[in-house]
Amino acid sequence: MSQPYTNPSLSIAERVENLMSLMTLEEKVGQMLQLPANMSDNVDKLEQWNVGSYLHCTGDMVEELQQRAAKTRLGIPLIFGIDAIHGHCFENDSTVFPTQLALSCAWSKQLSQSMAHVTAVETRACGLHWTFSPVLCVGRDSRWGRINETFGEDPWLIGELAAAAIHGYQGENLAANDTILACAKHYVAYGETTGGRDAYEAEVSPRKLLSVFLPPFEKAVKQAKVATLMAGYQAIDGLPCSASSWILRDIPKTQWGMDGFIVTDWDNVGSLHDKQRVAEDLRHAAKLGLEAGNDMIMTTPSFYQHTIDLVNQGEVDVALVDDAVARILSYKFKLGLFDDFRYTDLSKKPQILGNPVHWHASLEASRQSLTLLKNKQVLPLDEANKPKILLCGANADDVVAQLGDWSFGSMQAGASDDSFHRRDCVTLRQGLQAAADAGRCELSYVRGAAPAEADFEEILAAVDAAANSDVIVACVGDILSQHGEFHDRANLDLSGHQQAMLEALKATGKPLVVVFMASKPLTIPWVKQHADAIVCAFNPGAKGGIALTELLLGDLNPSGKLTISFPVHVGQLPVYYNKYQGWHALISGRTNHQERYIDMPEQPLFSFGEGQSYSEFEYSDLQVANPTLSASQDLAAGEALKVSVQIKNTSQRAGIEIAQLYIRDCVASVTIPVMQLRGFERVELAAGESRRVDFSVPYEDLALINAQLEKVVEPGAFKVLVGASSKAEDLLSADFKVA
Ligand code: BGC
Repeated sequence: MSQPYTNPSLSIAERVENLMSLMTLEEKVGQMLQLPANMSDNVDKLEQWNVGSYLHCTGDMVEELQQRAAKTRLGIPLIFGIDAIHGHCFENDSTVFPTQLALSCAWSKQLSQSMAHVTAVETRACGLHWTFSPVLCVGRDSRWGRINETFGEDPWLIGELAAAAIHGYQGENLAANDTILACAKHYVAYGETTGGRDAYEAEVSPRKLLSVFLPPFEKAVKQAKVATLMAGYQAIDGLPCSASSWILRDIPKTQWGMDGFIVTDWDNVGSLHDKQRVAEDLRHAAKLGLEAGNDMIMTTPSFYQHTIDLVNQGEVDVALVDDAVARILSYKFKLGLFDDFRYTDLSKKPQILGNPVHWHASLEASRQSLTLLKNKQVLPLDEANKPKILLCGANADDVVAQLGDWSFGSMQAGASDDSFHRRDCVTLRQGLQAAADAGRCELSYVRGAAPAEADFEEILAAVDAAANSDVIVACVGDILSQHGEFHDRANLDLSGHQQAMLEALKATGKPLVVVFMASKPLTIPWVKQHADAIVCAFNPGAKGGIALTELLLGDLNPSGKLTISFPVHVGQLPVYYNKYQGWHALISGRTNHQERYIDMPEQPLFSFGEGQSYSEFEYSDLQVANPTLSASQDLAAGEALKVSVQIKNTSQRAGIEIAQLYIRDCVASVTIPVMQLRGFERVELAAGESRRVDFSVPYEDLALINAQLEKVVEPGAFKVLVGASSKAEDLLSADFKVA
């Protein structure tokens, strides 16, 4: 007779309770294991250990393993996790999007959601149920190899874009064929490790955690209902995240009410002993990991037997195992895996992966994320005169540089046959060549310098070719071997002979357009000073070459704005807009000197929120409808601040302006950032059009964390700043108060 847990008409809680009442301790601990499917002896453990989850499982193995799980004593389905980070890039033919950092420059929740939705559809079509995305790390130090995976430096914006991505992945109904579980990672402050050193120590106080690093995750859990969190590799003030019950249990589960589960990062539990040395052996590590609140243990096989022994010998309470397993099982039920969705019809993959609608969404993401940082009236190129373009730089024709990290294994980047992996990708060279073939321009390409090569000959050839051109487009940046996990940098200058190439090209006297295709902000002060135009693409995705061509030739009016500051020099790091006051400065008369370093500017090279358009926008008449807000103890019930501003497109061309709203709390009981982003609007304006744009800032968004670690709005004077970027000269300001 079938057991109640197989009955879909019962509630999930009833089904979980019934199933758990039938499970042995061994079966329960097995559910907590996640092993890599691409390492074969792990797959052999499926029946022996009742493994609950595999990661990095692709192709037909998905179905094979699921069939084997169905034949185990209780037939508990597997849940498969995968790094579908900017597209389901572990599977050939999938749709690849710009990296998270590139995408964030569009400041578009809708794009973030559509990227995630397409990824969910493609991932589920492969029989997988869970992506380890989005990344909510605050990206403030571009020496860190993984900064490309972030949504940039602002915690509030990260929360907004991440919540949208989570909605895109998880949809309304997890038991549908177009949804998967999301995973907000790396929880928490993983991007803040000292010196940009990956997985090292984060020197972050509890107050800074609560003020800066936890809020995006809180939004992900409370507002977007993310199903899972992934614990970071690093330690905070000496305690590895994976050993902190305050971080893993108290905050998300008790305070935020998270009903989902927490997965470790790769072998975090083993690292408690092997690397971080807070556990004397792997048994001790298993105990610390379980007690702290890790529910699923990624790739630490020793956890299995040690945990069974620890429970049997009375050293840990089985209730901890039960809590973790109930969380995991309830999501297996929610995904419909016990009912109709254990198997996916894999024969539909060819129609779903990389279909034209999905590729269109990817192209749109590439278009909206491009950011114009400088334009001395060179762009758009003058098509009427059929410009002769000299294109230089290896990244102009490098598929992998264009796709960025976490696209390895995808058809686009992983295959050895160049013609194959180029199939769906259009590089900048190919994009411009298509325009040349259509008679819109003339193109010659000289590869010139590459990020990781030391060849001068090509630079000389590029200089020669410049003589016959009207304009030079030089594409510079970095390549995959210079970023990602295990690839932090100490030097952020342009590598190889890219700088020499730019200087030689500039010396020809021809207008120089620099396309910046890199995983991160590099130190490019020379470029800012000498290039005639700069387009920041970061890793713009498979269709980035089309979008860039459209921008250069004027079909596309750029609208992206930076979500991360560029340092002038590596010694300036970290350099972010929401900085603190108090840095000593010499006083001359009553005016502070602007420069605090004696040998370089205090301000970044390019600032958060910065980005130009072919249109021009003018801000005026900033108004606060309710300049006195009544103080409210109940933050959620407080009155929202109502602000509006007039924005006019003063140019002859329709365009999109991303208007930003920042709040400054003038005096507080603790030191707080000079201002913090609390709103933005993407405003589309026809040529000459003027419109009033409204913002509503929830009362709670005026709060700070005080010295007692309480979240409060302190009565007093505030300013609201609205404008085109975080730079002082771009902002209008108005006063309001909380009384
Ligand atoms: C990374 C995670 C990733 C995991 C699984 C780790 O090394 O830090 O971001 O999700 O591997 O591939």
